[in-house]
Amino acid sequence: MNTMPMLGAGTFRLKQQDAIDSVLMSLNAGFRHIDTAQVYDNEAEVGEAIVQSGIAREEIFLTTKVWTENFASDKFMASVKQSLQKLKTDYVDLLLIHWPLKTDDVSMETYLSELKAVKEAGLTKHIGVSNFTNAQLAQAIAILGEGEVFTNQVEIHPYLQNRKVVEFCQQHKVQLTGYMPFAYGDVLKDEVIQTIAQQHNVSAAQVVLAWMRQNDYVTIPSSTKQANIESNFASLTLTLSADDMAKIATLEKGHRLASPSFAPDWD
Ligand SMILES: NC(=O)c1ccc[n+]([C@@H]2O[C@H](COP(=O)([O-])OP(=O)(O)OC[C@H]3O[C@@H](n4cnc5c(N)ncnc54)[C@H](OP(=O)(O)O)[C@@H]3O)[C@@H](O)[C@H]2O)c1
Repeated sequence: MNTMPMLGAGTFRLKQQDAIDSVLMSLNAGFRHIDTAQVYDNEAEVGEAIVQSGIAREEIFLTTKVWTENFASDKFMASVKQSLQKLKTDYVDLLLIHWPLKTDDVSMETYLSELKAVKEAGLTKHIGVSNFTNAQLAQAIAILGEGEVFTNQVEIHPYLQNRKVVEFCQQHKVQLTGYMPFAYGDVLKDEVIQTIAQQHNVSAAQVVLAWMRQNDYVTIPSSTKQANIESNFASLTLTLSADDMAKIATLEKGHRLASPSFAPDWD
């Protein structure tokens, strides 16, 4: 698929049959964008679900991410080939650097050159990064060239709006992908979001997904339940008013959930 659908299905934490079921339910519900990663340990299940769905590979936008342990020159390309084997495909649509390295064990120049080599070998259509700060993204653009970094996938939801990163990505025409749109459920309990949901006769989750889309953030919620998957997909038909958007914009509270010990110094 040439374009990246604004709404995709995430697969973090989903293992074995749960991963197959979630991806199959998502594809049956209409999702055509699936997000996985080497470290999620479910690429084989994602690949299996795509095969089982019977949907042509080229109709699906498939993303995976290279784990930090595979950044060295002697491992990078081989790890991507292994991912493709598990995913049962010849290419992914988007290949991301999952996290920037905090140490200089492997330089950014090295792992981004490997990423570019994967694209040149035709094993991915697009390349991008995840969890990069603005300084790191500037470095990545200097290494790869303007226009090469397709997306920066970062945590974004109403409680962590990541405005500095958003502004920098928009300046450099790097598409934002917001992960954990529901803050793993926390924002769904928010009174402002629930009130907007009642006014539109929709769910809080649909409000959050429409807010992401109307801000031009691609997003990738995950779910194990058919009803949630179907209603998440139906968010594509919901349009929030400028007033709704403005009210949600006030909910920022620096509520960051994904910040492991190896995370960079966030903007
Ligand atoms: N690049 C990175 O470093 C990074 C880090 C984290 C995540 N991600 C990506 O982003 C994706 C999304 O993040 P996430 O899975 O951590 O969190 P999330 O999508 O914010 O939240 C998932 C939770 O929301 C629930 N949920 C989903 N739809 C719902 C609905 N309509 N109503 C009520 N609850 C609903 C799910 O429960 P049910 O199963 O019960 O529906 C699940 O517990 C991941 O799967 C992964 O692909 C990337």
